[in-house]
Amino acid sequence: MRAGGFLSVVGPSGCGKSTLLNMAAGLMQPAEGTVEIFGEPLRGINRKAGYMFQQDALLPWKTVLDNILLGLQLRGGEPKQAGRSAQAWIHRVGLDGFAAHYPHQLSGGMRKRVAMAQTWIVDPDIVLMDEPFGALDVHTRMRMEGEILTLWAETGKTVIFVTHDLEEAIALSDEVVVLSAGPASHVVGVYQVGLERPRNLIDLKTDPRFVEIYRSIWSDLREEVLKSYARSQPQ
Ligand SMILES: Nc1ncnc2c1ncn2[C@@H]1O[C@H](COP(=O)(O)OP(=O)(O)OP(=O)(O)O)[C@@H](O)[C@H]1O
Ligand SMILES: [Mg+2]
Repeated sequence: MRAGGFLSVVGPSGCGKSTLLNMAAGLMQPAEGTVEIFGEPLRGINRKAGYMFQQDALLPWKTVLDNILLGLQLRGGEPKQAGRSAQAWIHRVGLDGFAAHYPHQLSGGMRKRVAMAQTWIVDPDIVLMDEPFGALDVHTRMRMEGEILTLWAETGKTVIFVTHDLEEAIALSDEVVVLSAGPASHVVGVYQVGLERPRNLIDLKTDPRFVEIYRSIWSDLREEVLKSYARSQPQ
């Protein structure tokens, strides 16, 4: 993908979306082919990437504030400045008043928001996000999507975003990659989303051009979803 771009990957459950992100993060080696990061082959862990896992990876014995601070502490950041930055992130993800809470005291969506702050606070060049907003209610989700787009536009980071939700993929991305149903999944299509930015997420989905792009991608994805559904039925 293009450096500084926003790319989404969609495809049926089990087709290898998380696997792709794991390879981009350097947690897994591809059996064939190579992973290149800004033109350099990736060896070992990808230190340029922040990874927001599909299952959140918060430390249960640390508070919201300490979980968010973790990355900066591991990098040896100056404590006062790190604290200010973590407070700003708590606000940004709408968790004012929850700094001293522990993960088990939060809802699923709140934990996702902590994980998002954890990923972005360390200012990685590449952000890998695996279905970050699936557990959120519609309003929070739209707010977080808007937040991501603003952050991305301000910082020029490269984002790879995995989602089940084709509407979300189109609304956020420059480019949408559709994968086929597994096993032996392949790329079904790569679609450019030419909608101008900044995008108004509230009205975008009724824009006729959005609907047109959605129709064209869905006609391909639909086949794959049906195949995957047929395979998962008892014989
Ligand atoms: N191309 C592939 N090569 C080898 N293994 C694969 C491939 N694609 C998927 N797998 C295996 O299939 C399983 C599911 O893959 P993965 O978790 O990446 O799916 P997913 O698309 O993220 O699904 P979900 O949408 O349910 O999260 C994993 O155990 C993974 O190792
Ligand atoms: Mg997955």
